[in-house]
Amino acid sequence: MTKKIFLDESDIPTHWYNIVADMPNKPQPPLHPKTGEPAGPEDLSPIFPMGLIEQEVSAEQYIEIPDEVRDIYKIWRPSPLYRANQLEKALDTPAKIYYKYEGVSPSGSHKPNTAVPQVYYNKREGINSITTETGAGQWGTALAFACAQFDVKCEVYMVRISYDQKPYRKVMMNTFGADVYPSPSDRTQAGRDILAKDPDTSGSLGIAISEAIERAVQDEETKYSLGSVLNHVLLHQTIIGQETIKQLEYAGNYPDVVIAPLGGGSNFAGISFPFLKNNISEDKNTRFVAVEPASCPKLTKGEFMYDFGDSAGYTPLLPMYTLGHNFTPAAIHAGGLRYHGASVLCSQLLKDELIEAVAIQQLECFEAGVLFAKTEGIISAPEATHAIAQVIREANQAKEEGREKTILFNLCGHGFVDMSAYEDYFAGKLSDHSFTDDELKKNLQEVRELSVNQ
Ligand SMILES: Cc1ncc(COP(=O)(O)O)c(C=O)c1O
Repeated sequence: MTKKIFLDESDIPTHWYNIVADMPNKPQPPLHPKTGEPAGPEDLSPIFPMGLIEQEVSAEQYIEIPDEVRDIYKIWRPSPLYRANQLEKALDTPAKIYYKYEGVSPSGSHKPNTAVPQVYYNKREGINSITTETGAGQWGTALAFACAQFDVKCEVYMVRISYDQKPYRKVMMNTFGADVYPSPSDRTQAGRDILAKDPDTSGSLGIAISEAIERAVQDEETKYSLGSVLNHVLLHQTIIGQETIKQLEYAGNYPDVVIAPLGGGSNFAGISFPFLKNNISEDKNTRFVAVEPASCPKLTKGEFMYDFGDSAGYTPLLPMYTLGHNFTPAAIHAGGLRYHGASVLCSQLLKDELIEAVAIQQLECFEAGVLFAKTEGIISAPEATHAIAQVIREANQAKEEGREKTILFNLCGHGFVDMSAYEDYFAGKLSDHSFTDDELKKNLQEVRELSVNQ
């Protein structure tokens, strides 16, 4: 049995795959928050460069990856595909388990796959300064690295709870040359408003996005960059699944189920969409399972409706599964999954039942992460442990049914800078958390009124 499958640098995909071309129901358009009319490219141009806006609205099936981007991808791509045979043995399962390991990138996750092209298109249009938000710190680190590659200034708003939990993430971003501020901060109106209402808030990705957008809007020379949710971000991540298809071919296998954690949807899309294409256009029957934290259950308990992508309401209204842009998730350690909505593409696919979703509590996830570390030797990011927990459920089910099946998951990041999370877990300081239906309803009611007013 081969433990890990490597590809050659020449196997780095030449194109990103755009699932919009193959979706049976195309995503509904974003709406301008003031007019309620579909938002056009010109509405996005104050914050994004045209090269990315074109990709955001494109329906072309494949989009060529510029050579400059592929050259930087070579630092860590193609990433390895592993067979998790030690985990299989520990679970005594007939299932075959494979994982694509994105932790080999400079920031330790899948995020540089999109950070590099995003900075490339900004630089090509003369932009020398970019702002962004970061949850767990993975995205901010990725963008800081990409900005260093193209000599672009980088300003990062880091969700307060992660800023406190993960001090070394900040130092990583500083090492790549970025300035980092805890969010909410007093540098923006959005931040000051939140602090006035709740000075001890743990922050959220929605709030940090508002701060970063506000900074970009105020300064013509500065653009904003988003690490998930938008179509072009999901597009860039599809190199993960394309490489995996080739690697599994070498292993003589094809997945029955593909699993990934979902914060905004980019790593899930990255590993899933190229396989999903084969469900749509060939006769494949793979299942795709997005895993969310039970304490931020937008896919399983949210509603599909138009909502803002950020807390202050600066973004266009997006048709998505959401808990409400005013929702502040519980202070769990999987910071990258603490987001109120899911990308438009993943939301539409879930609505059309082409993908599935499951919510898992954090204690089960950490237990899974520890078993994975002991067996496979990699300490995963708290976000990635959500996928592992679901993999274990699927592998146990295969054992109960006495059925061989092939499980593929995205190990989207390592947890080397998240050790305070594991420390809290071992100290018994972590607990499960669910919101009551009434708590969830309150936020959604406000958003429903907003949708009705459009
Ligand atoms: C390691 C890791 N996994 C997953 C996510 C969730 O984002 P997405 O759903 O866009 O992959 C993040 C976001 O910060 C992350 O850092």
